[in-house]
Formats: sequence, C-alpha cells, structure tokens
Amino acid sequence: MNISLENQTAIVTGANSGIGEACARALAAAGANVVINYVTKPEVAEKIAAEINVAGAGRAIAVAADVSNEAQVEAMFVRSRAEFGTVDILVNNAGLQKDAALQDMTLDEWNLVIGINLTGQFLCARAAVREFLRRGPRPEVSCALGKIICMSSVHETIPWAGHANYAASKGGILQLMKTMAQELAPKKVRVNSIGPGAIKTPINTLAWATPEAEHELLKLIPYDRVGEPSDIGKVCVWLASDQSDYITGQTIFVDGGMTLYPGFATGG
Ligand code: BGC
Repeated sequence: MNISLENQTAIVTGANSGIGEACARALAAAGANVVINYVTKPEVAEKIAAEINVAGAGRAIAVAADVSNEAQVEAMFVRSRAEFGTVDILVNNAGLQKDAALQDMTLDEWNLVIGINLTGQFLCARAAVREFLRRGPRPEVSCALGKIICMSSVHETIPWAGHANYAASKGGILQLMKTMAQELAPKKVRVNSIGPGAIKTPINTLAWATPEAEHELLKLIPYDRVGEPSDIGKVCVWLASDQSDYITGQTIFVDGGMTLYPGFATGG
C-alpha cells in the first residue's frame, strides 16, 4: 500500500526518541511535514529534523514545548502554523513513567505522569481541534477535517502493579479518546489510539536489554518478539491516512498479542 500524506502537516509530541521518533520519521517518509516536539535533548530533535530534511520527502522542524504547559502548547501550534500553514495530524505521543509501589508514590510522581501523559494529550488535542475548525476542510489532501492519534498502551486495559500513575493515565486516555471521537465525528475529525505493547525504546530498556530480561518479557508476548518502534510508525501512518477513513474511536493494539491474556494459553 502506497500511502501519501503529501501537503499535510503532523505535530508529533515527544518525537526525539522511541515511538515518537519512529512516527515522525514514518510520517515524513510518507510525505507529511512534521513538527518534532521535544523537551530535553534539543540536539537530538534537531538531528532528526535535519535527517528528515535531507531525505527529501516531508520537511521537518524541531519545536520545544512541555505538553503539560498550556502556553507552551499554544506557542507550538503558532510556530507550526507559521512554518507550514496549518496542522492536519496530531500524534499525541509524549509520555513517561515514574514507577513506584502505591504506598511509596509521591504526589509529585502522580502529578507529573498524569500531567504529561493525560493533561498533555488534552491540551494538544484541544489546540489541534481549534486549528482544524479554524482552517476548514481540505478535500484535496484528506477526507477528514483532521486526525488525532493518541499514543496509549496495553495498560489502558491491563492493570499494572507498581505503575498506578501510568496505568491511570492510559485508562484516562481511553475515555478521552473515545469521547473526543464521539464529539468530533460529525465535524469529520477522526480520533483513534494506538496501544503499543512492549516496544524497544528508552522507556523500558530494563525489560529487554539483557537476554534474561528479554526471555522473561517474551512470556507475555505470544508473537514471541519484542516490538520495534517502526511497528508503531507504520500503523501511525495508516491511521493518519484516508486508508483508515471509516475508523474513529478505536484503539489499535500493536502488541504481538500481549492483550490476549497469554497466561490462559495453558491455564485457566
Ligand atoms: C510501557 C512499557 C511496557 C509496556 C508493556 C508500555 O506502555 O511504557 O514500559 O514494557 O507497556 O508492559
């Protein structure tokens, strides 16, 4: 399938590593202009943007913004419009973990994770929807007025001991995504989530970096391999394209079967 996102612009939050980087590179390879959002390591974001620009498909700029900060999110959208004219696609990807047993979890750890993973998705989605409505339809590039892709997790449905803040944020994204999809479908805005399982990124290096850890992890993955960021990038491009035009309000799990309750394959 040859998907073209030419003349569309995507903002990808948290795009200077892991899944966000893979989504940004894949969207650009499909022809979209991309905004590489980041908070730390500006040199990495600039390098990714430069590599995308050299590749010669979509263009890229790096834009700093903390997605949990309303003013910074607004400024990122102003900058994106100034550079590329409008925004067609938002990949709400920025997220982090601050793991702790419940009795040890501090309010700061709770607020940080909810602030970035959940409130950040609200702030960016709100700004994107305002831009879609301001700009109006562009039938020459897409059937939809705009597309929002929320990066969720298998943990929007699988409880995760020791990660209450993270699991709560992902459970919140599920209802945020579905409610936005219901509310915005009549306006032709499509809102979907990707639910990654274990993907080889910096967020979970400890879970796959040694053969022992990977062996343990694979017990949770029926398809018997740990995911790669590009596994998510491909689905992101498809969800952003008209190939998925009739899909809204859905989570596509990209998890090698992690949500299939593999413990029940032999038990129960
Ligand atoms: C988490 C990873 C974890 C994976 C599967 C993701 O949402 O960020 O740390 O490996 O879920 O449990």
